[in-house]
Amino acid sequence: MQETQAPSWHSFAILSRKWRRHACTACRWLAEVLPAESSVFEPGCGSGANLLWLGQKGIARLYGSDIDPGALELGKRLALRLNTSLELWEDNGIKPARLPENLDAILSVNWLYHIPGASFSSFLDTYTRALKVGGYLACDMVTRRYDRTPGNQYHSNDLKLPVEQRRPSEYTIRLDREEMRSLGIRHGLAMIRSTCFVLTNPQRSVYLFRKVE
Ligand SMILES: C[S@@+](CC[C@H](N)C(=O)[O-])C[C@H]1O[C@@H](n2cnc3c(N)ncnc32)[C@H](O)[C@@H]1O
Repeated sequence: MQETQAPSWHSFAILSRKWRRHACTACRWLAEVLPAESSVFEPGCGSGANLLWLGQKGIARLYGSDIDPGALELGKRLALRLNTSLELWEDNGIKPARLPENLDAILSVNWLYHIPGASFSSFLDTYTRALKVGGYLACDMVTRRYDRTPGNQYHSNDLKLPVEQRRPSEYTIRLDREEMRSLGIRHGLAMIRSTCFVLTNPQRSVYLFRKVE
């Protein structure tokens, strides 16, 4: 962290990894279904901590992109120290300039639903074409239960401020399981696994899709 300009969130995310169940579960499901020679791409990968975890589980071909060069530099240095082969590059995951092809899996956790104007449908439009038939998408999503949390329209760090000083919520997309399932179907993806962490706030669900056509 001291050697790079990575935001402090990434040190929290690595040190408190076991509490980030949405990220751990998506990674674990991929590790369970993927053979070692598989290729995995993670847009919005931050420091690549999820990819490095998959690397330690034996997955060979790991790719990630992020908009933040400091986080990527941290990931590159961690990969060197862990002696793990990891290809990282700077890109806007909403409109990627570089998209790997014929992937065995895509991992997408804890970034898309923070981006103003992003949509899961557009994400699927962009990313499902990078998957091979039979490939997997592991992702998480904030559920619509958050819509019923008082103050959910505001940034969760601003709730003690006067209303006029509060920023909009950092959770810009909220979807329930049925919406995720039908969006998947529209993009040739079958939902093969899901779980919901009911006690967290916001409540998040994790999904594993498989490309069927
Ligand atoms: C909360 S972090 C999560 C990182 C990683 N997915 C994880 O779960 O450990 C969100 C990441 O999304 C990245 N990000 C934000 N907007 C982005 C964009 N338009 N394209 C790519 N990455 C973006 C940030 O730089 C940050 O690294």
